[in-house]
Amino acid sequence: MGLDNGLALTPPMGWMSWERFRCLTDCELYPNECISEQLFRRHADLLVNEGYADAGYEYIIIDDCWLEKDRDNKTQKLVADKKRFPNGLNPLADHIHNIGLKFGLYQDYGTNTCAGFPGVIKHMQLDAKTFAEWDVDYVKLDGCYANISDMAVGYPEFGRLLNATGRPMVYSCSWPAYQEDAGEMPDYTSLKQHCNLWRNWDDIDDSLESVAQIMDYFGKNQDRIQPHAGPGHWNDPDMLLLGNYGLSYDQSKLQMAIWSIMAAPLIMSNDLAAVRPEIKDILQNRKVIAVDQDVLGIQGRRVLSKNQIEVWSRPITPVVSNNQHSYAVAFASRRSDGAPYRIVFTLKELGLHNAAGYNVEDLYDDKSKLGIFRPANQFITRVNPNGVTFYKFTAL
Ligand code: GLA
Repeated sequence: MGLDNGLALTPPMGWMSWERFRCLTDCELYPNECISEQLFRRHADLLVNEGYADAGYEYIIIDDCWLEKDRDNKTQKLVADKKRFPNGLNPLADHIHNIGLKFGLYQDYGTNTCAGFPGVIKHMQLDAKTFAEWDVDYVKLDGCYANISDMAVGYPEFGRLLNATGRPMVYSCSWPAYQEDAGEMPDYTSLKQHCNLWRNWDDIDDSLESVAQIMDYFGKNQDRIQPHAGPGHWNDPDMLLLGNYGLSYDQSKLQMAIWSIMAAPLIMSNDLAAVRPEIKDILQNRKVIAVDQDVLGIQGRRVLSKNQIEVWSRPITPVVSNNQHSYAVAFASRRSDGAPYRIVFTLKELGLHNAAGYNVEDLYDDKSKLGIFRPANQFITRVNPNGVTFYKFTAL
């Protein structure tokens, strides 16, 4: 039986608290940063007022640390932290819905969440029903404090219980990340039947190093991971860091480009009030977002690497006669030797074989018109250190 909830036909887009706000729970010390109703109301409003919602960002997702340490004594229901969510979750969900957004919530398959709050394992049916009562639209189910060997049965079971509530909820599973960590091979065929998206690997941190490690992981393991992405079921390389402390302007473009090649969920984790205008432009770049959200839902791949310039390529629409796809192609520099690095490829080398050629545009530069290129032509690009150049090759 499949998940069959009709959701996430393109990778989900939104905002989530974890990477930036972690488990800050002291609202007296950190009133603007603590995990509280305020934080999520503020970010829901910012998502709309700062133009992110218009660009496609939709889900406001509460990550860990929203719970009381204990369930309700009588009902055994989960209880949101009484100080930080004094009204429970419904008024927050209402607000999020009233301004046109959707509401996501974190829980954990095991006895406890990773930060130590109660998990779902002994109360799966009750919790699925409670999520529906709280008008949740998206569930991230983590896998701390659980037996990895139970997950192949337990995660699908919780998905069935979510479906049985009758409320459509996107289901994000962390099950394969825990299996990979333990050296076990995830069963991607089963995953894509039961989950809308899944975390494949380690948590992202606020650095280029972390982005690079994730790129390497997806590049190295693409043969067994990439084929399983598609409408309704996505690989998840974790949150976007843009707008935080760790990435430069060029590195921000790099993460955004590679994530869109990977058909990744575009889930930001940042303080939306503090994102600099030039970074906001990257996050809201309509052409890059269109690559991520391409209707075919084919995940891209790292196709080659030359002189430490990696070529990442994704087949996208429009598709012309003879089944020739258009492509988004990112040139990711793993170099740090100062000057922008000039590199030349023939289109054939890049895997672009459409005899009629391609109309090429720079996805990060509206003004540039590069013209038409055919398979035998050379394509020249210059990539900044730790940066990216990103083009759409529209098949003719
Ligand atoms: C795990 C997950 C993270 C985050 C934390 C919360 O590490 O992978 O994304 O949800 O737990 O504790």
